[in-house]
Amino acid sequence: MPILQTKHLTKHFDGVYAVNKLSINFEAGKITGIIGPNGSGKSTLINTLTGMIPIDSGEIIVAGAERLQRVEAHEVASYGMTRTFQDVRLFEQMPVIDNILVVLTERSIWKALFEKHGAFHLEKAEEVLKKVGLWEKRNELAKNLSYGQRKLLEIARVLAMIHCGVGDINIIFLDEPFAGLFPEMIKIVTVVMKELRDQGKAVILIEHNMDLIRELSDHIYVLDSGELLAEGKPGDVLARKDVIEAYLGE
Ligand SMILES: Nc1ncnc2c1ncn2[C@@H]1O[C@H](COP(=O)(O)OP(=O)(O)OP(=O)(O)O)[C@@H](O)[C@H]1O
Ligand SMILES: [Mg+2]
Repeated sequence: MPILQTKHLTKHFDGVYAVNKLSINFEAGKITGIIGPNGSGKSTLINTLTGMIPIDSGEIIVAGAERLQRVEAHEVASYGMTRTFQDVRLFEQMPVIDNILVVLTERSIWKALFEKHGAFHLEKAEEVLKKVGLWEKRNELAKNLSYGQRKLLEIARVLAMIHCGVGDINIIFLDEPFAGLFPEMIKIVTVVMKELRDQGKAVILIEHNMDLIRELSDHIYVLDSGELLAEGKPGDVLARKDVIEAYLGE
């Protein structure tokens, strides 16, 4: 059974249907790729699923059971979802390590009050920062990191969410996590994604680099003007003439 489904999901902005009657499924233990030309509705889809913007109509179904007219932003973690942003969002004025510690502690307020940043939190912060190669940068302010390092810090925050022990994060949306990364950084993110998949998480990848989509995705959806143009295995879908034309027609 899919861990997350949309049924006829629709969102328009001033007459532009950013997402139009979209019915798609996301599976646990799989990487689902979402591709499509610029403006085809990929980010809007994630924004609706993570409560950033309300939907106009349709349904969001979590774990086959809960049917939602919309997801509220403050409930996203309780539905097991987390995300990264196409335009990286961090606590810019905080050191790298604090960007992780706030995630590790923010959900258990009482614990945070009484045992602020205990040994467990510091250990987890070290673990996730080492994973993405940012441990050496732990005392730098987030705003002083390079663009690629900032994107890696967002990935580390996702890993911290999974470790924070409150809620059970099992759906992870990554909106163009590879854009602007150097090859060695791309390698780090691909390893993280494969590990998350192997842990049984549903990983949703928005990406324009088709080599990465081919390498990582178990299943892909192609959006065009907010509608579903094609779906299936990357090898099959990326060979389709209408899919190639949708991209070339940008
Ligand atoms: N907040 C908004 N207000 C008005 N229009 C919006 C808003 N967000 C998105 N749109 C419009 O909705 C459509 C889909 O945009 P969206 O950002 O979802 O595309 P995308 O597939 O993520 O594109 P890209 O590959 O460039 O990131 C576009 O026409 C865009 O201009
Ligand atoms: Mg986008």
